[in-house]
Amino acid sequence: MPKKMKITAATNNAGKLREIREISDCEVVSLKDAGIVSEPEENGKTLRQNAYIKAKAAYDLLQKSALDEFIIADDSGLFIEVLLGEPGVNSARFAEPGKRRAKVLALLNGIDERDAYFETVICLLDKDCEPKFFTGRLDGKIAYENRGENGFGYDSIFEVNGRTLAEMSESEKNAISHRKKALEKLKLYLEKL
Ligand code: IMP
Repeated sequence: MPKKMKITAATNNAGKLREIREISDCEVVSLKDAGIVSEPEENGKTLRQNAYIKAKAAYDLLQKSALDEFIIADDSGLFIEVLLGEPGVNSARFAEPGKRRAKVLALLNGIDERDAYFETVICLLDKDCEPKFFTGRLDGKIAYENRGENGFGYDSIFEVNGRTLAEMSESEKNAISHRKKALEKLKLYLEKL
């Protein structure tokens, strides 16, 4: 891989940017760094479509300055088996902010079948707007109540081997996370270029 390849990450989420920087060995620029504040509507039916929508929106806005670089965008979701994959691609819009975990716990009230997984899809666009996709998955179970103070989103109700992601340190979670697995695949791909 050429030294310090430049990637524009189509996100302003500080946690995601930190993970991408940690793992990729590239110069990672956020949308805000690139002067873009607008975010597209995530109206795809799949994580893959939404990742592409976000990457393409950044590509269209950056095109001239992005000629020598890559753009990446990711979309993630929590898929609960007994809810037929809900909230899935709608994880960020499943309920009002602050009420999403409570809604999941209420829907699973009295149900012991609690298998679930997180999935991330990363879309990489090259200078010709050619997409490549990388996925990562983390299997676990929905807990019976919120536990733990760390993390974000659904972390405090998602258990792996009896501990929720919010009970793990950031580095413990990042070592096993769906995003980490997708980023590892992206890294391998970039290393081969
Ligand atoms: P995004 O596409 O990565 O922004 O994530 C969509 C939704 O899934 C948001 O509501 C997040 O809270 C949730 N989510 C994504 N990744 C994680 C995670 O690692 N832990 C907890 N929730 C997550």
